[in-house]
Amino acid sequence: MSGGRPEEASGAGDEPQRLEHQPFDPLRIGLLGAARINETSIVKPALATGARLVAVAARSRDRAEAFAAQHGVERVLDSYADVIADSDVEAVYNPLANSLHAAWNVAALEAGKHVLTEKPSASNHAEASWVQQRFAATSARFAGQVFMEGFHYLYHPMFVRLLEIVASGEVGEVRHVESTLLMPAPHDSDPRWDMALAGGAIMDLGCYALHAQRVLGAHAGGAPVVTGARCEEHSPGVDAWADVEVVFPSGATGLARCSMTSGHWEMAVHVHGTRGSVSVPDLLYREDDDRVVVRASPEAGGAERVEHGGTDSTYTHQLRVFTAAVRGGGPVTTDADDAGHHGAGRRRLPRARPRSPAQQPAHGSRPLRHF
Ligand SMILES: NC(=O)c1ccc[n+]([C@@H]2O[C@H](COP(=O)([O-])OP(=O)(O)OC[C@H]3O[C@@H](n4cnc5c(N)ncnc54)[C@H](OP(=O)(O)O)[C@@H]3O)[C@@H](O)[C@H]2O)c1
Repeated sequence: MSGGRPEEASGAGDEPQRLEHQPFDPLRIGLLGAARINETSIVKPALATGARLVAVAARSRDRAEAFAAQHGVERVLDSYADVIADSDVEAVYNPLANSLHAAWNVAALEAGKHVLTEKPSASNHAEASWVQQRFAATSARFAGQVFMEGFHYLYHPMFVRLLEIVASGEVGEVRHVESTLLMPAPHDSDPRWDMALAGGAIMDLGCYALHAQRVLGAHAGGAPVVTGARCEEHSPGVDAWADVEVVFPSGATGLARCSMTSGHWEMAVHVHGTRGSVSVPDLLYREDDDRVVVRASPEAGGAERVEHGGTDSTYTHQLRVFTAAVRGGGPVTTDADDAGHHGAGRRRLPRARPRSPAQQPAHGSRPLRHF
């Protein structure tokens, strides 16, 4: 079998259809692909939330069979299209390589399925806009349809708490936002280095860093504007790292950093205000570090307080919110419109310019290119 390509979207339907479910039925999820991230992102969260993994397909039937046996997926189908067409599947989880997100997301939406897609939900602004438009049409046909882009960090209580603390005014007016996602280099054969699969540091990690800047914009007068950026290519069109400088309408500034060639792991958000700062040191909860650290400025006494967000993974919280949205119509912040706006932000980033590794500056040590 093969994953294949999704069929062309069928024409707009006739009468609106209600997506049927019982309020407390376990969510019935179909998986596109036997991705590495599945165990963390959907298998364990499904166990934690009581969801059923009803079907999976992969390009290799053997791999799909092995994955299903290992993780208790109820049946193996021949293709991604078969998973989408399966009447028992009500929600499709899409963890395919980035370049395959948009088309399969639209195929699932057209079939009347709810969609939980890995980030970034599209390869570029044009694709994100296309998905946004298709969702506007399909959600009118299938009342209650849910589309969620997997910015899981946003749904964890530690990030929710960071936002509450910023909103409370405890750290004063927001002056600077730092969002930093760094990791050591994956193997050269990793899809994240493949231009055709929409690889690169901004696609893999920078999307989180830029998304967090946009989210924090709600507390700095609105959406940030990119004022400077620098990056280095790993190969033509595929960035190894990038630093992006932004300014918010309030005059506050921000720095979003991402790297797939760092010497260490770091995934943190820091918000600096006029009276102190608040940080989430492990945004994606990779190291089971659920701290929210609040520091008063020296003028405000310099005290430090540590709160804890709790031990459920970011992905478990994400699946809870997704399930609540499917079952009860609860809000999804990272919906198709949010993804469309996020795609527009990425479009405004400058083209990467090649530099040799020796030329790579230490992060934050040199001025950004301003434009
Ligand atoms: N890995 C992480 O830590 C992580 C964390 C958060 C989010 N994500 C996101 O999750 C998604 C999957 O990441 P991953 O690391 O789990 O990816 P992966 O396992 O390398 O690839 C995901 C799937 O994409 C398909 N695929 C891979 N290479 C392909 C190729 N050359 N041509 C066509 N299809 C190909 C495969 O589907 P088949 O199984 O059908 O062969 C594979 O299972 C990405 O969008 C990523 O941004 C990953």
